[in-house]
Amino acid sequence: MTAPEQLDGPRACTKYEVGAALDLMNLVFSPQAPEMGSFNPLITSEANAPRMRILRVNGVLVAHAGYWVYDYQTSRGMLKLGGLWAVATHPDYRRRGYGRLCVLDAMRALREEGCQLGWLATGINDWYRALGWENGGEDWTFTVDRFTVNLLPEPDAEVRFGLWPDTAAMLARYHAPGIGVRRSREWFDVLLRRHGLRCATASRHGALLAYVLYKGMHVYEQAGEAACIPGLLRAVFLREDDRDKPTSTSQHLDGMLVRTCPSRDGFATALINLGLPRTRAYNGMWWIPDPPALLNALDLADITVTEAGGTITLRRGDETARLSSGEVVKLLLGPERVAAFAGDLLPIRHYLWRFDGV
Ligand SMILES: CC(C)(COP(=O)(O)OP(=O)(O)OC[C@H]1O[C@@H](n2cnc3c(N)ncnc32)[C@H](O)[C@@H]1OP(=O)(O)O)[C@@H](O)C(=O)NCCC(=O)NCCS
Repeated sequence: MTAPEQLDGPRACTKYEVGAALDLMNLVFSPQAPEMGSFNPLITSEANAPRMRILRVNGVLVAHAGYWVYDYQTSRGMLKLGGLWAVATHPDYRRRGYGRLCVLDAMRALREEGCQLGWLATGINDWYRALGWENGGEDWTFTVDRFTVNLLPEPDAEVRFGLWPDTAAMLARYHAPGIGVRRSREWFDVLLRRHGLRCATASRHGALLAYVLYKGMHVYEQAGEAACIPGLLRAVFLREDDRDKPTSTSQHLDGMLVRTCPSRDGFATALINLGLPRTRAYNGMWWIPDPPALLNALDLADITVTEAGGTITLRRGDETARLSSGEVVKLLLGPERVAAFAGDLLPIRHYLWRFDGV
């Protein structure tokens, strides 16, 4: 007869256990180059240890689910957003419910911290769906290739490669549209130091107009004057496209992928007008801990919410919608239209840039 397993947790990691939690993350996510600790030192710091939820079995740290709390600016106000990261179970301890326990514990903790919204990026959507998460929001990715790059205009500004020396000016450009994670200087500096990240800037008379952030042939972020960005993308493509690679055997991408916020106000309209191909995906998975609190934070308190037997009923004037929790995610955050309800206000505009995702 085997002895029963002794469970310790799920619970907050102590500062003395951050190393063991990192060992688990490196084993699961980065076995070749154990660098989870340097990926984002703020979230793996001892100060953030309480937000790393862990489970020990017979003394061994076998499962982890962490989160970080963001200020998330949307078109209808600032939200407190809890972003999940590094959900991992040791390979020898999987399929025993430990991963689920840690995620549920992280969800409970971010609800306790007053988060009105949860976010995560994943490839195992159905596993999270069973825990109350749903795909939502929208992400656009354009493709630029060796033919279509010639359709992009020549840059009408000075293009430089490398970070703009005054990163505060970059941060101001990032914040200008008023959508997305509100970044502190420290958070932004950590993101800019990510391994392999490159930057191209457009400027005139020493003033920063726009920047793009990219790794190889993936452009992950752009900010600044919309008119400058197509030219910057052209410059990045021409610099990064490796013309020496054999064309018959190199199967890299179809070209350069440009990921961006779904907005017709910005530079994307120029690319759409050129007819460049674009894919649309979700901007991650979302969880709403407390629908009335979220509606309140979005200045939608005239929508009343009641919940019974897994159905959420929303009422506003003479409009009513009876929805599942997943449908509420879609109604509020898009992109699908699941009900003809408050269509004049919903979905809100919001976007989480890839680099903020942990
Ligand atoms: C994803 C991951 C964290 C899941 O961890 P886990 O501890 O195995 O998770 P759970 O045990 O809660 O659930 C896994 C499966 O075991 C099943 N299960 C749960 N308890 C069980 C038990 N006592 N007996 C048998 N099966 C069980 C679940 O129903 C689930 O089944 P499914 O895959 O058929 O849907 C783990 O596989 C992992 O670390 N993967 C690599 C990293 C990763 O992908 N992380 C997520 C990135 S967002």
